[in-house]
Amino acid sequence: MRKISTYSLYPGLEVARPVYNKNGQPLLAKGTILTERFIERLKELGIPSLYVEDGLLPDIEIDDVISEETRTNAVSLVRSLMGEKGQEPGAVLKKATILGKELAATVFEIVDQLLMNRNTMVNLVDIRSHDQYTFNHSVNVCVLSVLTGIAMGYSRDRLGLLAMGSLLHDVGKIRIPPEILNKPGKLSAEEYELVKMHCQFGFEIIKSSEVTDIVAASISLQHHERYDGQGYPHRLKEKKIHEFSRIVGVVDTYDAVTSDRVYRKAFPPHEAYELISGAGGHLFDYEITRAFLSYIPAYPVGTIVILNTNEVGAVVENVRGYSKFPRVRILFDPYGKYVENGKEIWLAEKTEYYVVRTVENVADVQRRTGKNR
Ligand SMILES: [Fe+2]
Repeated sequence: MRKISTYSLYPGLEVARPVYNKNGQPLLAKGTILTERFIERLKELGIPSLYVEDGLLPDIEIDDVISEETRTNAVSLVRSLMGEKGQEPGAVLKKATILGKELAATVFEIVDQLLMNRNTMVNLVDIRSHDQYTFNHSVNVCVLSVLTGIAMGYSRDRLGLLAMGSLLHDVGKIRIPPEILNKPGKLSAEEYELVKMHCQFGFEIIKSSEVTDIVAASISLQHHERYDGQGYPHRLKEKKIHEFSRIVGVVDTYDAVTSDRVYRKAFPPHEAYELISGAGGHLFDYEITRAFLSYIPAYPVGTIVILNTNEVGAVVENVRGYSKFPRVRILFDPYGKYVENGKEIWLAEKTEYYVVRTVENVADVQRRTGKNR
C-alpha cells in the first residue's frame, strides 16, 4: 500500500483505504478498482491523494493510530458542531452543550486507543479535500497533541483535557466568514485581523458552553502564541503560554503545512519534519517539539526514496525515536533494474546509507525502470 497523488493515479489501481465525501459517507470503498471516471471525480472533489495498492508494496499495511470508526465519529461530531456556515455563537454554544457528553466520550476513546498504541509512529497521513479541512484538521490536531502529551508522561485525565481543548481549538472559526477563511490570495490587513479573532471567539464559546475546563478552553485562546513572543493575540512568551497551548501550537502548524490548502501545496513529510524541527527553541518550545517529533517519521511508510547508492527503495517501517532513519526495502538496483525480494536496510544501523531524495510518484520510478505493477 502506498499514498500517491490524485494526479498520478491511473485506471486499474486498487483503493487501499476508503475515501469519504464531505458528509463523511464513503465515496470509494477499500478494494474498488479505479476507473477513468473515478479518477476524474476525485480531481473534481479536490481529494489530493489516495492510498492505493499498486503492486510495489503488497505486503505493507499502513495503519492509523486510532480506529477508523473513532476517527469518523470524531470528525462527524466536529462537523455537527461547526458544520453550518454563518452560525450564531449562541447556536454553537447550545450544540456544544448538547454534544458535551458525546464529545467527552469520544476524546477518551481517542486517548485510550493512543495509550494502547503508544509506540506506534504516525505513518498514515490523513487524506482530505479542501471543504473537509477544518473537521479533519481538528481531529488530527487532537490525535497529535495527545501523542505529544503521552511522550511527555501525562496522566490519562490530563490527556483527556488536552484532547478536548485541542479538538475544539479552532471552534471560533465558525464566526469568520468562509470566503475569508478559504481565500486563495493574500488576506487584506483587516481580513487578517478578523481571522485572528477566532482565538478569542473560540475561548468565549468553550468557556460559556461548560463542556470542559477553562484550561482546555485556553488552548483556543493561545494556540497561535509563539514561544519567542511573535504570535497572537497577546504576544505571550515562553512559559507564559500554557503548556497545552505550546503543544497545540507545534501540532497545529505541522498539520497545516502537511495539508494541501487553497493557497498552497502541502509540504512533503520530510520537509515538514525539518521545518518543525528547526523551529524548536524559537517558534516552539524545544522539549515539546522533541516530544512531538518522536512520533513523526520524516519518511512515512510507503515513501519511495533514492539512496546515496542510487538504489531506489520504499520505506517499510519506522521505529519510534529514529524519525529520520526508516527501514528501507530495495526495489530497484542502481541501474534501475527491479530487484525481486530486495534486501531491507535499517538506516539507523547501516549509516553508510542515507536518503538523497524522495520520489513522489511511482510513475517516476516506472519511467526509470519500465516496471509496471
Ligand atoms: Fe487556529
